[in-house]
Amino acid sequence: MSLKNHKILLGISGGIAAYKSCLLIRLLVKAGAEVKVVLTKAGAQFVTKTTLETLSGNPVACEMFPPAQFVGTHHISYAEWADLIVLAPATANLIGKIANGIADDLLTTLVMAKQSAVMIAPAMNTEMYNNPIVQENIAKLKERGYLFLAPASGELACGSEGVGRLAEPEEIFTTIERYFQKSASLAGKRVVVTAGPTRERIDPVRYISNFSSGKMGYALATEAVDRGAEVVLISGLTALVAPAGVRLIPIESAAQLQKKVKSEFARADILIMAAAVADFRPAETAKRKLGDPVPAQIKLKPNPDILAEVGRSKKKSQVTVGFALEVGASKANALRKLKEKNLDLIVMNDPTVKGAEFGGDYNIATIYPGDGGEWQLARMTKRELAAVILDKIEEKLATGGA
Ligand code: C5P
Repeated sequence: MSLKNHKILLGISGGIAAYKSCLLIRLLVKAGAEVKVVLTKAGAQFVTKTTLETLSGNPVACEMFPPAQFVGTHHISYAEWADLIVLAPATANLIGKIANGIADDLLTTLVMAKQSAVMIAPAMNTEMYNNPIVQENIAKLKERGYLFLAPASGELACGSEGVGRLAEPEEIFTTIERYFQKSASLAGKRVVVTAGPTRERIDPVRYISNFSSGKMGYALATEAVDRGAEVVLISGLTALVAPAGVRLIPIESAAQLQKKVKSEFARADILIMAAAVADFRPAETAKRKLGDPVPAQIKLKPNPDILAEVGRSKKKSQVTVGFALEVGASKANALRKLKEKNLDLIVMNDPTVKGAEFGGDYNIATIYPGDGGEWQLARMTKRELAAVILDKIEEKLATGGA
């Protein structure tokens, strides 16, 4: 793939693996990319400005306030210029600063002002990499959509063996290529994502709801926007901020969700129902606040199954995806729902499993496609799971869908 017209800002921090970044620049430039390098003070201990300027064909910046040619906003212009920011090698210090909002040099300041995706390739000693503080910082950044290239295992510069080696330049290069391929993979597609809980009113001040945080749906919406799709996010009340670039439609109850899904689905290529729809609602919403006397019972009635309804009217070119929250992860239940709701994929997970609880940032899921098979996935962030789900949807679109 040619990387012509792609602008890559490469940030190099202080690690011995910085020499590998020289090879990465060569690969990028050869593929037609325009590369600008920003070097941290510690990075300059390992590779020289002259080497990087020669390889990239562009001036290399190191300082926030260089003595000559000072431009007060050059951190902003770098951020605006880049189609992708790649940090390789990224030290524990650089990762820690970004994760905690510190912007005390040119590289961290421009990352703070970023307008593009940021891809981070960590490189450090094994003990440093495994330090829970570093791992927490990585998890935090992953959850915010920063992309990571896992370090490799092997011999390290300090003489020890273990995880922490910078990914090889060829691997970083291929990941960059894939990123640009993916960034337009859903261009022209309309994606509807539902998220969060529904609230079913009992009376003017009370409701029935559930613990859904909406994080899975918001992660899916963000991932779909990043792939160039036109995204509508129909969401129950959550504590989350809608991702930039999506059209947010707030809803409260299952009935409102049903109405919005119906009208939006008519023009959609893909529907992902991550919303936790309450299965039942009060048969009537009391006009006045209940309590005097306390009602002995509240009569309930079932909510419509929105996904099943949509499944009945769905066109061949449309892809629908559901979630099955199964306590005890019952494959049989998930497969039944897949069939009953006429879905292309169902994502099963168990919120009672340790490490994949309600409201958390992680999930452990199994995906069942409508045409047979299963993918059991490892524990991963909801954002990572969103990427896997969208990959599967894209495969489906390529092989027989829209
Ligand atoms: O049957 P169950 O509630 O487990 O199905 C879960 C899937 O169906 C989810 O994708 C959910 O968003 C969707 N659903 C729906 N309408 C309902 C209940 C669930 O669309 N009334």
